[in-house]
Amino acid sequence: MKENIHPIFNKLLKREEREDRLGQKSKVVWFTGLSGSGKSTIAEGLEKKLFQEGFFAQVLDGDNIRTGINNNLGFSLEDRRENIRRISEVSKLYLNSGIITLCSFISPTIEIRKFAKTIIGEKDFIDIYINTPLDICEARDVKGLYKKARKGEIKGFTGIDSPYEAPINPSYELKTEELSVEKSVEKIYDFIKPIVQLK
Ligand code: ADX
Repeated sequence: MKENIHPIFNKLLKREEREDRLGQKSKVVWFTGLSGSGKSTIAEGLEKKLFQEGFFAQVLDGDNIRTGINNNLGFSLEDRRENIRRISEVSKLYLNSGIITLCSFISPTIEIRKFAKTIIGEKDFIDIYINTPLDICEARDVKGLYKKARKGEIKGFTGIDSPYEAPINPSYELKTEELSVEKSVEKIYDFIKPIVQLK
């Protein structure tokens, strides 16, 4: 099969040309954290903030991707790995289009995130750990999923009966306790801005 495929990437416009047009450096900003940690809310806020400041960004998020391209995947570690593999490949396409891509996925293990980083490329992968302790995520229980997991109605729920391994040395760690969403977005924006702006 593969010998009949002829990628045309070298005939396309260069990533740098697209980045220049958009006035930015493209990166993949990868949010990891428990369900209910605030990843998606912060990613959405950051998308808006970047846009207001003249950047061009796009959020990819678990709940959306899993109803579309990944609607055939569940939550076994194997399916989660495939989920992350496809998202990483899509992110790489966005990256080459010059877009700042904000990925919000639990991506629960060190191995899974390493896999994402390998696909995307080390220098373009910025991992942000949204560090919200389990007891707080569970107390908030925005989607009511922790309650169901505790009752055994959902099996293999991250943090309950499926693992979450915190990143050891993330590019940035945000402890969300006692931080408003606005403040969280501001902190991450301040971190990201020098990385995505054209010098
Ligand atoms: S990942 O582990 O493969 O990275 P992803 O971020 O795509 O997960 O999806 C997580 C979202 O799916 C959660 O925020 C929650 O709304 C929903 N969900 C449904 N079942 C589970 C489960 N067993 N474990 C974790 N999240 C689940």
